[in-house]
Formats: sequence, structure tokens, C-alpha cells
Amino acid sequence: MKPATLAFDVYGTLINPLAMAAPLAEIAGDKAGALAKLWRETQLAYSFRRAAMGAYAPFSQVTEEALDYALDAIGIQATSAEKAALLAQYTRLPAFDEVPEALAALAKIGHKMHAFSNGTLEDIGTLMDTAGLSTFLGDPVSVAGVQSFKPDPRVYALFEEKTAAEARSVWLLSSNPFDIIGAGQAGWNTIWVQRSPEIPFDPWGKRPTHIVSDLSEVAALIG
Ligand code: LAC
Repeated sequence: MKPATLAFDVYGTLINPLAMAAPLAEIAGDKAGALAKLWRETQLAYSFRRAAMGAYAPFSQVTEEALDYALDAIGIQATSAEKAALLAQYTRLPAFDEVPEALAALAKIGHKMHAFSNGTLEDIGTLMDTAGLSTFLGDPVSVAGVQSFKPDPRVYALFEEKTAAEARSVWLLSSNPFDIIGAGQAGWNTIWVQRSPEIPFDPWGKRPTHIVSDLSEVAALIG
């Protein structure tokens, strides 16, 4: 395949938000895994609601509001200092193990690659720098540019505008089915990163062009 424009979803695709279970264990003990999962699910639910309501707020605020909800729902008390420490760690989450090598291989082929995320430009920059991924990637694209969230069609149009790419030459790589369906509807090619065989795809909407179990399979697929 000739070099294309690759859009990498960040949370759940390049970076592992469930790695928050380790620092959460300090305040939540054996409920840390459930807390990390509810935090992530609530963060996404709040982003969908804010997009539908036209009530954009930076993803860092959405993340904090979701943490407050998840702590309350699971019945865990946290001090302001503990919460601030957790939110700071959220901007320094680790990449999944295979990611640096996979991005290096794709960059070598000559693909144009960008992080494309609900996160703010500042948070995406910190995450990519901390995980050592910035070197492989061009300028990140944040949904903040249209004050909405995935899968609002305007965020996919923003990516095309910022990267001067046509829909049919863009590939989205994402572990999030709602993102894959949104990009498919925008006319993009898509690769769903099914990080665990237990995770089902939604039973409606555009199917992914390809399915992989992690990013190490992508270079062979679209090399
Ligand atoms: C992102 C979320 C959807 O990075 O994972 O955009």
C-alpha cells in the first residue's frame, strides 16, 4: 500500500487508562480494578452526553468529573491531594507494550501518523512525550478544535482539515468501537484493535476494515 495518513486513537489504543488500577489500589484496595473500569466508562458516557448537549468541556475536566462519580458510586473517600495526584498520573499513563516498536515500523514505511484524541492538545503532548512516542508522530489533532467529542462527525472532518487528507486515504486505528463506527461513517478506513477476545464489537454501524489484536500486526497488514 502506498503511504497513507494514520490517525491513532490515544486512550485505550496507544495508552492504557486501566493502568490507573495500580495507583487507585492505594485508596481503593481490591476495588481498584472496578473503580478504574467505572471511571473510564463514566468518562466516555459524559463525553457522549456533553457532545449531544453541545456542552463541551475539556476532556481533563470530564475525566475529573467521572472520577468523582466513580469514587462516589463505589463508596471510596479520597482527599483533594489524592485526587490531584491521580489526575496528574492520568497524564503520564504508560503505552501498551508493543506500541513503540509498532509505530517505529509504520513510520519506516513512510505513513503520516498523528495522535487523534478526545484529550486536550496539552494532555496528548504530555502523554506522547512521557511514553516516548512523539518522535514517530506529526502534530496531534484534538477534538477541542471543534469543541465536541468522538464520534461527532465534525471531529473526523477536523482531522481531515488539519492533516489535508481525504477521507478515503485516512486510516483510523482504535480500540474503541464507537470511534471505529464514527470514522467508518465518515468514509475512513478503519482498524479495530481488539485488545481482548472477550470484547465484542457493536451489533450495528459500519464494520471495521480490519481487526487486529494489537498494533504489532498493522505494519504487515497495511505495509
Ligand atoms: C480518545 C478516546 C476516545 O483518545 O479514547 O479519543
